[in-house]
Amino acid sequence: MEIVKALYDNHNRPINYLRLAVTDRCNLRCFYCMPEEGIHYLPKKELLTFEEIERLIRIVASLGISKIRLTGGEPFVRTDLMQLIRKIVATEGIKSLHLTTNGILTVPHITELKELGIASINLSLDTLDRERFKIITRRDEFDATWQTLQQLIASKIPVKINAVVMEGKNTDDLIPMVELTRHHPISVRFIEEMPFNGEGNHYPQLTWTYKKILSWIQQHYPNLEKMKDEPHTTSYSYKVPGFQGDVGVIAAFSRTFCGTCNRIRVTAQGVLKTCLYDDGVLNIKELMRSGVSDEAIKFELQKAFAARPKDGFEAELQRKNKSVHESMSTIGG
Ligand code: GTP
Ligand code: 5AD
Ligand code: SF4
Repeated sequence: MEIVKALYDNHNRPINYLRLAVTDRCNLRCFYCMPEEGIHYLPKKELLTFEEIERLIRIVASLGISKIRLTGGEPFVRTDLMQLIRKIVATEGIKSLHLTTNGILTVPHITELKELGIASINLSLDTLDRERFKIITRRDEFDATWQTLQQLIASKIPVKINAVVMEGKNTDDLIPMVELTRHHPISVRFIEEMPFNGEGNHYPQLTWTYKKILSWIQQHYPNLEKMKDEPHTTSYSYKVPGFQGDVGVIAAFSRTFCGTCNRIRVTAQGVLKTCLYDDGVLNIKELMRSGVSDEAIKFELQKAFAARPKDGFEAELQRKNKSVHESMSTIGG
């Protein structure tokens, strides 16, 4: 077996995690992600094909990437996603495969995902209330997501719930969601809202910062305990003593964790982002379709990793397109 050297960026941060958006399409219309009428979806030929994704994963694995997360849009909206998943888990060098899903089409695949050794599933769920779910996602699909949560817990696949915290929308859900961790060994993570809603409009100031979320939880659970965080995590973890699961806060807008960032992204249209807040630094799809060799692609990737902005603020400043208009559905979160 070939020995793969660790991959580092220009700030001496190891890079070992690729987040890949397999589609920009989604069966929900979460208002923090896209406008009600949806976004202009990419024509199929603008997406990386499964063959191109497999090639890309082989290439990045040979450079030192060992963790892959498939995102979207909603990954299961892409036809035959399981076919791609089977290939990825069998790729040399890939140690863990993860998924971020809204859970609506997930149930039929849980048994096979478990058999394939999926490392964890992050489920997007912002509320436990059916009416609020309908308002936030503009679709009446709470039951499907809830059923996925139950089945994931039963199958013992590690589960993390992602809840974006929104003033006036779901703040009444924070404590009931923490309560989910009382009897279930899951992580519930509260995320600061970011301006990637496909419209570019954002409040002048974020009200529900990670600090406010945390202090709200601490008011209800004064004995909340800090846990040791995983290296490179975006989530600061806590636990209510005696509860089976844990609670996390993700400072996605405050960007407090950039100093240990180990991740790169490939968007639904096959563009590399070395930071969530940059506007794309390399068009991998065009490069591949121009017929170049794996070595040439590796060279371009390494060039991009050697020019990474130090944090999400620098990445934002360096954008050619100053305002953040993309939908999270294209970026993949
Ligand atoms: P783990 O692999 O379990 O650590 O998951 P993850 O947090 O990397 O992935 P997930 O797709 O569940 O993302 C959770 C939230 O964190 C989403 O809102 C992401 O947009 C946000 N997030 C993930 N990575 C980054 C990052 O590099 N920068 C910022 N600002 N936010 C991020
Ligand atoms: N701000 C913060 N998080 C977001 N997500 C989607 N859009 C936004 C946004 N505007 C989260 C979803 C999903 C994850 C990949 O990104 O909760 O779980
Ligand atoms: Fe779909 Fe996820 Fe965007 Fe919601 S956040 S509209 S579930 S892609």
